[in-house]
Amino acid sequence: MPESANTRAAALPHLRNNGLAMGDPIPLPVTMAAIYHAPGDATGYDQYGRFSNPTWDAVEHMLAHLEDAPCVAFPSGMGAISAVFFGLLKTGDRILLPSDGYHTTRALADRFLKPFGVSYDVRPTSAFLDGGFDGYRLAFVETPANPGLDICDIAAVAAAVHKAGALLAIDNTTMTPFGQRPLDHGADIVVAADTKAPNGHSDVLFGHVASRNADIIAAVTGWREISGSIPGPFEAWLVHRGLETLDVRFDRMCTSAEVIARRLQGHRGISGLRFPGLESDPSHNLARAQMERFGFLISFELASEQKAEDFINNCDLMQAATSFGGVHTSAERRSKRGDAVPPGFVRLSVGCEPVEELWKAIETSLDGISG
Ligand SMILES: Cc1ncc(COP(=O)(O)O)c(C=O)c1O
Repeated sequence: MPESANTRAAALPHLRNNGLAMGDPIPLPVTMAAIYHAPGDATGYDQYGRFSNPTWDAVEHMLAHLEDAPCVAFPSGMGAISAVFFGLLKTGDRILLPSDGYHTTRALADRFLKPFGVSYDVRPTSAFLDGGFDGYRLAFVETPANPGLDICDIAAVAAAVHKAGALLAIDNTTMTPFGQRPLDHGADIVVAADTKAPNGHSDVLFGHVASRNADIIAAVTGWREISGSIPGPFEAWLVHRGLETLDVRFDRMCTSAEVIARRLQGHRGISGLRFPGLESDPSHNLARAQMERFGFLISFELASEQKAEDFINNCDLMQAATSFGGVHTSAERRSKRGDAVPPGFVRLSVGCEPVEELWKAIETSLDGISG
């Protein structure tokens, strides 16, 4: 019987306990160490802080439990994406990226892959299958894509990508492994910014790569070791702590997002509302098929840049901030960051506040800009 998300969630806080000796602390200690005691041939032991760290091991153990795959930790989501690109690609390779996904991934390809002779094309997430994958070494998908929340069929894309002899990487940042497990749908690689909901407290950047392919894990581990793109032990410790409550936070955030999206649907002044959990959303049927939850992100458009700014800045229970997935509800007008969206486009990240209080604050702020 396949393990359910609940079984994984229940086991998560107890993973460490299975390896404890009498008198060991039950919470994870943080190991701040650049060097380790390593006389003689220390093969198989920690030797140097760029190669290994027990606090990384503990957080990777948790992530591997959630992904059902070996995981390698990085100092940010972009660190994880860079490891996939620089660990696996070579001059002459061509890759495919989403045109509507996180803009920094395209910037990485444009500014740093292109000069090394790795070229890239872009395609909208909702039409990612169109045109096929012949000639590509790697297809990279974000689903749901940030910020427009379009999705694509991971299993269908994986089958077509593999037929063309390429690899499929999915950026699962918007969902977390509790919301969607792309490796189960045939993807070769998952990358994620644990900066977002997995850490959840907006106080650290972190990322990971997951894969069931040992060569891919070896390549990104080698990249980390040699490039020095390593997470700090204290950051790993914070993410370990965050992961212990991810299930409860994610559950609250997704449940509240469903309530709020339904109420926004009926609100005057809002257009272009997107939330995969709404039956009217173009992504809904596919979302039901491949996602465990519908996520905590909602996007919509207000009539102008000023109205969007006023809505965000005048809402008592909303932080005006980039990023998402934190315990605090936050929102951002995404054209500010250069996304190809209208000036009044808002990406809302629903946090952990009690939903009726949150809705009251959102409604009051919306009423304030109406008229
Ligand atoms: C979808 C997605 N992937 C990757 C990243 C990069 O993560 P980080 O900021 O931790 O480098 C982000 C950041 O916003 C993101 O939204």
